[in-house]
Amino acid sequence: MTEQLTVALSKGRILEQTLPLLSPLGIEPLEDPERSRNLVLPTSHPGVRLIIVRATDVPTYVAHGGADLGVAGKDVLMEQGGHGLYEPVDLGIARCRLMVAGHPGGVPAGQRLRVATKFVNMTRRHFAEQGRQVDLIKLYGSMELAPLVGLADLIVDLVDTGNTLRANGLEPLETIADISARLVVNKASMKLRHRELKPLIGRIAETAATRA
Ligand code: ADP
Ligand code: PRP
Ligand code: MG
Repeated sequence: MTEQLTVALSKGRILEQTLPLLSPLGIEPLEDPERSRNLVLPTSHPGVRLIIVRATDVPTYVAHGGADLGVAGKDVLMEQGGHGLYEPVDLGIARCRLMVAGHPGGVPAGQRLRVATKFVNMTRRHFAEQGRQVDLIKLYGSMELAPLVGLADLIVDLVDTGNTLRANGLEPLETIADISARLVVNKASMKLRHRELKPLIGRIAETAATRA
């Protein structure tokens, strides 16, 4: 038997929104991935297994061959550079925007701005393109808190409904990028297992397009 194809997914919205794209292909996890402690999950398709990794680790697993396929947010791919993998399909799921946000009424004039974010590369690039010098403060989550306690003047974070910003008295200021999740594919797998992967990728793309 040929080796199973391995698909890397992350718990939460990526898993939730990717499973409906896989089920028409007869790929359904045999255990509830949100509850199981197993990180390798067999599926109803004998040729396919899922692995459960952190959202930011999906590109690493796929680029280095720990998985043949994966689903990663465009934010993660842009921040990390997206090197060493193919990105053949915009799945149109997990849609949001990467935005600059801050207190209503703007930022203090004349001084160098402090910007808190986990997206330091995209943030640096965004402000550099505008010719604005900023001090970056790297955080790993809950960015909305930083302006409230005076840690930063601005944040760069993902925004969907805007509820989290509003709940913390902040407002969206500028959009840096529109974000959605992408199917990513290991380069060697794409060559060596093209016969299996091509129809699989094609059908995932079709399902994604009809649901979008
Ligand atoms: P994490 O634990 O890394 O925050 P998430 O499941 O929240 O993982 O995010 C995974 C991906 O989903 C992100 O990389 C982004 O592309 C997208 N995403 C994050 N937050 C939202 C949101 N509020 N609405 C829609 N998509 C989102
Ligand atoms: C994400 C993001 C924002 C929020 C935006 O957090 O980091 O905080 O969603 O969505 P909204 O505009 O609809 O409020 P998430 O829910 O992923 O929580 P996390 O801190 O666990 O990543
Ligand atoms: Mg999140």
